[in-house]
Amino acid sequence: MISHLLLLLLALAATSHAGSIAVYWGQNTAEGTLADTCASGLYSYVNIAFLNNFSNGQNPSLNLAGHCDPTAGTCTSLTSDIQSCQSQGVKVLLSLGGVSGTYSLSSAADAQSLATYLWDNFLGGSSSSRPFGSAVLDGIDFDIEQGSADNYDVLAKALSQFRSQGKKVYLTAAPQCVYPDQHLDTALQTGLFDYVWVQFYNNAGCDYSSGSVDNLSSAWSQWTSGVTATNIFLGVPASTAAAPSGGYIPPDVFISQVLPVVKDSSKYGGIMVWNRYYDEQSNYSATVKNSV
Ligand SMILES: *[C@@H]1O[C@H](CO)[C@@H](O)[C@H](O)[C@H]1NC(C)=O
Ligand SMILES: *[C@@H]1O[C@H](CO)[C@@H](O)[C@H](O)[C@H]1NC(C)=O
Ligand SMILES: *[C@@H]1O[C@H](CO)[C@@H](O)[C@H](O)[C@H]1NC(C)=O
Repeated sequence: MISHLLLLLLALAATSHAGSIAVYWGQNTAEGTLADTCASGLYSYVNIAFLNNFSNGQNPSLNLAGHCDPTAGTCTSLTSDIQSCQSQGVKVLLSLGGVSGTYSLSSAADAQSLATYLWDNFLGGSSSSRPFGSAVLDGIDFDIEQGSADNYDVLAKALSQFRSQGKKVYLTAAPQCVYPDQHLDTALQTGLFDYVWVQFYNNAGCDYSSGSVDNLSSAWSQWTSGVTATNIFLGVPASTAAAPSGGYIPPDVFISQVLPVVKDSSKYGGIMVWNRYYDEQSNYSATVKNSV
């Protein structure tokens, strides 16, 4: 009996801080296919990036670099890739926002209508114009980096309503590491997000710089104590080129100095890597995976 209990406790201790890796895919054709990204075995979550044109009366539209042409309807080529990812246990989400494109939510009604659009076109609903065909995504990622912060809380609540209709709808977000995030704080305060992958790059003041973990460490404490979410992930660039304004952490430093700090929190869920293209070039995830 006692030895069984001991084994159970040891198993819990061993697994409680084992993290997962999330990645963004969709912004560079040279990164390879979505199916290959999932087949690498590196990632538990893949965010398809981005749905970067929505609201203000616009029809929502995707930008997946050269992977497919949404206006020509060729993104249905991703249907089988998404299903293949999911059959390997990888959750696939659609990321809203990013640095380019034009987006905002002009009213609560606008947010409600986007939620319905997302449900019908990417999640469990139905529409004659589903960009990824019959594939049903696992959730929606908020990477809101421009425009007003208004009504993203309404969008989160509206999307969460669909959770009662069968398959879980995951909600995730990618705020900047400066706490609180000016675009996403109100949405995050709903407490409806499963995973929050904080961008610890391109953000002087909270990212790793000049060989010091201090700023990263204090920002991490703010995130893990301030935000209600199942898990918080440390967002890192896969290379210096992935984050022109800083925050790259060499893998050896990451393993020896950063992971021990972030794993100290029970909210630690793993890391998010920006992005698949740079990760494939630098081999970052593969290098750190066993320590994450
Ligand atoms: C956004 O969508 C509108 C149509 O709804 C289109 O006119 C505009 O060109 C799109 N912008 C981008 C950056 O794709
Ligand atoms: C930490 O952030 C502050 C700004 O908040 C900045 O002045 C300082 O240089 C940063 N420390 C390092 C080591 O980058
Ligand atoms: C990537 O890293 C893994 C783990 O360290 C290693 O096994 C693999 O050979 C590396 N691949 C390349 C292309 O460097």
